[in-house]
Amino acid sequence: MKISPQTQLIHAPRLAPQYVSTIQPPLFRASTIIFENTNALFNRHWTDQYDYSYGTHGTPTTFTLGDNIARIEGGKYCLLAPSGLSAINLVNSCFLSHGDEVWVADNIYGPNMEHLLNLKNRYGIQVKVYNPLDVDSFTPSSKTKLLWLEAAGSVTLEFPNLIGLVKKAKAQNILTAIDNTWGAGIAFNAFNFGAEHLSIDISVHALTKYPSGGGDILMGSVVTNNLELHHKLFRTHAIQGISISGDDAAQIQRSLSSMQLRYEHQSQSALKLLNWLKKQQHFTQVLHPADQDSAGHKYWKEVCPNAHSAGLVSVIFDEKYTLNDIRQFCDALTLFKIGFSWGGPVSLVMLYRLKDIRTLATAHLKTGILVRFCIGLEHPEDLIHDIEKALLTLDS
Ligand SMILES: Cc1ncc(COP(=O)(O)O)c(C=O)c1O
Repeated sequence: MKISPQTQLIHAPRLAPQYVSTIQPPLFRASTIIFENTNALFNRHWTDQYDYSYGTHGTPTTFTLGDNIARIEGGKYCLLAPSGLSAINLVNSCFLSHGDEVWVADNIYGPNMEHLLNLKNRYGIQVKVYNPLDVDSFTPSSKTKLLWLEAAGSVTLEFPNLIGLVKKAKAQNILTAIDNTWGAGIAFNAFNFGAEHLSIDISVHALTKYPSGGGDILMGSVVTNNLELHHKLFRTHAIQGISISGDDAAQIQRSLSSMQLRYEHQSQSALKLLNWLKKQQHFTQVLHPADQDSAGHKYWKEVCPNAHSAGLVSVIFDEKYTLNDIRQFCDALTLFKIGFSWGGPVSLVMLYRLKDIRTLATAHLKTGILVRFCIGLEHPEDLIHDIEKALLTLDS
């Protein structure tokens, strides 16, 4: 029987000829993955990192991206999630059970803290907060399962005593996880850092920031270099149906080749801004790990061999300025746009009240409204000029 044109179209050959070679890897979009025969179906190993059995598990496109993220971060295995927060959730839901204790840095990414407090209320998980600058404030018990780290904290930018905290956790066999979005695998290697070559167990990365680089795609990753941990995460990932779109993966893959250059450029621009901001009388504090007056500077030096410091700078305004004054300042900026996130081409600004985002006392931080600048790819002199102009609203 002659096959109709419609059926012919649906069953047209799928494979690209072997000899075609392109700069970017081919894009696979899939829910269904076709098995060659029943033998292939029955012999599939879905717990194998590279098994192709269904779209939620992965495709060559998502595995390529995952491999590259693991490579950038110095780890071996990677799972991808639809956002950075979803990647954080994957770790929490995989390793925390009723009665467990988790320790979180006081300057951790706010929604991670909120997520944990939600687990506390609903599932009886104890959430303890420590000061990232003070190892003694981390006092684990026999119930402690997980230590969350973030270097640097993404709003107040203190760099934690990473070496001290990780050594203490390791001595007590506590699992360690880092939100590695700030360092992005470029500022330091979470799996091999410090003179003693320490390793954190799990690195979570909001690929939404530097890897995407466009301010347009959401994604997160969970990298480990331990197969057993990876398998545990993998099962949770599978049973929760966490998956990402092939198109999004291809977009991020495309941006990866320029990530290091963008990161370095934004780091350099942030340093230029830092030097200028420090000279302005409107601020009582300028926060940046590479600045010797910022809390945790010595820990940053211990861990970041190439002195990379990402593209974030925060300032604390003199207390004489009211919230309304600072809102006026932010509204007067033209190149800096008001919005959450970072790592994209456009510079962003966000304002915070410290008391809203911290649990512990913050003696090292002045009181006053905090404004965070996220440096984009614009010329740094233009950004300085933008801030200079907006500051005039405070003096008028
Ligand atoms: C430090 C940090 N971690 C995680 C996330 C979450 O990433 P996403 O926006 O992709 O959920 C963010 C987002 O702002 C972040 O700043």
